Amino acid sequence: MKGLILSGGKGTRLRPITHTSAKQLVPVANKPILFYGIEDMAEAGITEVGLIVGETAEEVRAAVGDGSRWGVEITYLPQDEPLGLAHCVAIARDFLGDDDFVMYLGDNLLQQGLTGLVERFDRDRLAAAAPSLEHAPPSPSAHILLCAVPDPQRFGVAELDGDRIVRLVEKPVEPPSDLAMVGVYLFTPAIHEAVAAISPSARGELEIVDAIQWLIDRGHAVHHEQISGWWLDTGKKDSLLEANRRALESIEPRIDGTVDASSEVDGRVVVEAGAVLEGSTVRGPAIIGAGARITGSYIGPFTSVGEDATITGSEVENSVLLERVRLDGVPRLVDSLIGRDTEVARSGRPPKATRLLLGDHCSVDLQ
Ligand code: TTP
Repeated sequence: MKGLILSGGKGTRLRPITHTSAKQLVPVANKPILFYGIEDMAEAGITEVGLIVGETAEEVRAAVGDGSRWGVEITYLPQDEPLGLAHCVAIARDFLGDDDFVMYLGDNLLQQGLTGLVERFDRDRLAAAAPSLEHAPPSPSAHILLCAVPDPQRFGVAELDGDRIVRLVEKPVEPPSDLAMVGVYLFTPAIHEAVAAISPSARGELEIVDAIQWLIDRGHAVHHEQISGWWLDTGKKDSLLEANRRALESIEPRIDGTVDASSEVDGRVVVEAGAVLEGSTVRGPAIIGAGARITGSYIGPFTSVGEDATITGSEVENSVLLERVRLDGVPRLVDSLIGRDTEVARSGRPPKATRLLLGDHCSVDLQ
């Protein structure tokens, strides 16, 4: 079994962060989203991982390296243009060879990991091949995960007849069910014939949904299961903040930095080495990155403070602050995602006014 992780794409829904950086490298609980997928692969025993990269290839390469830190071998697979999820499979054709593989969208997070899923797929494949079984079930060509969601219009959606998938539709205006396709798929090499046979959709992409539908229409067995835990597609700010909350809920508390006598740390909190808390309160779950300095401030639940951030006389809650963010005198910042090297300060200088220097596609919600 090989792994294929998709880390190209445009990331338009996460601008302006993605003007300067890959969306898969935005951290949740101070760890790039992409790393969670690689960890899941390693844990499931997958050692050969292909990584689709687009215009942010250099940044992804610098962050991920050769994969040895997870015990996997990464092969970079450049995609000139984001022409669709099935296009990624086509690009990976030589890398994948005749092996089964797990495809994982690099901006997705799946609580249950991959181990059980890979085991079930292997078991179904073996059961079908067993010569002792007279009526062996057909061997699955694909296995997909489904999750009931309140807004299926945003996803690929499955229509079931009993336990059988009959139809898959991408971003339907009138969804046939509330079952969204999760961004993790298991395939046999049968998918390559399907990918070669389909044409680009109306939006100009080779859709994985169409490739799987091609398999269904030709009588291939496509298995499915509903996921047990949570799944998040972190493509937008709110889902990214939710992913951050979920990830923080399971961090192991530890204080490796310095907490002075007038500071208080409460609940599930990580203070990384070199971070300093002075006269501040941190209420978990929260993480304070290495080298960050928090002075006279309150860091509330579900907040990740990036490395070398400086927070003075401020209050922050339910937010993700990337590396080297500076907050000074900000009375209450909530539900925010702030990019690297950004400064938010209250100068008090007259006239009393809000002064902004914002890049393209930013969003500001004033009190
Ligand atoms: P999407 O979130 O569907 O697409 P996107 O990254 O272009 O985002 P947006 O809609 O905000 O513009 O992609 C899912 C994942 O697959 C994501 O990690 C990017 C990756 N991807 C590729 O690597 N190549 C592709 O051709 C496409 C469409 C996506």
